[in-house]
Amino acid sequence: MSIARGGRLPASVNEAMQALNQSVDVDCRLWREDVRGSIVHARGLARAGVIPSDDAEKIVEGLGKVATEIESGQLKWDPVREDVHMNIEARLIELVGPVGGKLHTARSRNDQVATDLRLWTRGQLDEAIKAIADFGAIIIERAEEHIDVLMPAYTHLQRGQPSRLSHHLMAWQELLLRDADRLIDARRRLNECPLGAGAVAGTGFPLDRDWVASELGFDGPMQNSLDATASRDFLMEVASALAILGVHLSRIGEEIVLWSTAEFGFVTLSDEFSTSSSMMPQKKNPDVAELVRGKAARLIGDVTSLFVLEKSLCFGYGRDLQEDKPPIFHAFEGALQSLRALSGAVATCTFNAHRLEAALDAGHVCATDLADLLVTKGVPFREAHHIVGQLVRLAENGNVQLSELPEASRVALHPVLGSLEAAAALDPRQAVERRGLVGGPARARVIEAVAGAKSRWRRIGKD
Ligand code: ARG
Repeated sequence: MSIARGGRLPASVNEAMQALNQSVDVDCRLWREDVRGSIVHARGLARAGVIPSDDAEKIVEGLGKVATEIESGQLKWDPVREDVHMNIEARLIELVGPVGGKLHTARSRNDQVATDLRLWTRGQLDEAIKAIADFGAIIIERAEEHIDVLMPAYTHLQRGQPSRLSHHLMAWQELLLRDADRLIDARRRLNECPLGAGAVAGTGFPLDRDWVASELGFDGPMQNSLDATASRDFLMEVASALAILGVHLSRIGEEIVLWSTAEFGFVTLSDEFSTSSSMMPQKKNPDVAELVRGKAARLIGDVTSLFVLEKSLCFGYGRDLQEDKPPIFHAFEGALQSLRALSGAVATCTFNAHRLEAALDAGHVCATDLADLLVTKGVPFREAHHIVGQLVRLAENGNVQLSELPEASRVALHPVLGSLEAAAALDPRQAVERRGLVGGPARARVIEAVAGAKSRWRRIGKD
């Protein structure tokens, strides 16, 4: 008797069909959730009086044995049995006899796989949220450590205004805070139990769906059997959030690649997070950051797969849905690998303070501050912008910085430009301190931002 093909079809199957049909090589990863769901389902059947309690306990005991076999690598997954669900059920029946055949009462693989996948995704979300929080904590620590190091803030990758490294690092972790929040939000929405929905239109057996849901840690049962078995928006949502996270990690990676060039020299990666070249003996490469950039491309691909998979499905399970597993498995794998490796790289890298601060010496980064000074003397900003623009042109022509221009040529444009106040405006350290608004790079503000971020992360830990 073939469990997968029932009595309706002959046991043998075409080879090409089997290759297409089987999914156990991929969905065997769901075995823990499958066993857990089956144990609760068996007890639920007994509670509802559908099967005797003794039978339920025999099934539960048998499932325990199957789990031990899987754990120890003893159980050989059989592709003829199609998927993880059939493999576990068939092995259960081999171990406990025909009573094992009662387990699938009032259940379909459609509500079963949807339940397994929600349980699995929930567990992975918890890991991902923790990994994001760990990365956030590392970034905050590095920001605190370098609170006094200045650097330029860039727009268009051109030096723009004086700022501080810690302010830049704190921007990285702002993205991560939102990433964690998005995953927490998705977790809350997916935490509903499909079991009891059956194949498509429920079951006539009097299951207590609330009890089953709460035994599995769900907030409650899904409210519509058609939706419960055939909707995968939870996967689209989670994969989208992971892709956004991937893009964020990729952006951080991009900066590490750039900053570790000899041209920038802002950061030096530790040896343990660097790689070498098979040909050029001198090379020390930032592959960690490049791989994280690469993983983001695949995370975006995973979202696309899931969207396309779902978009043309009528209501009611379609076998297309078997293909939902590789992208979501892959997405979590890529996201977690990237998070952990990038966290390690950022925790162990060296920020080169002298290079970061030396970058303030060119690029007229205090030009805005000089214009702002004129504004405080009553000059309309547009005019001030024009005056300082002319001054920058003079400096560029003379190949000097604004502060190095002879006083006479500054005063010729506006008398205030020769004052001590103008000299102060051109000092990057003072200029940074003037940017003291919420969100700005002044020292006290960044210290405040660090404290604020710590308490936001603590709240996330409690959610
Ligand atoms: N392996 C299937 C999946 O992953 C399980 C559900 C199969 N349902 C069915 N009616 N053939 O979607």
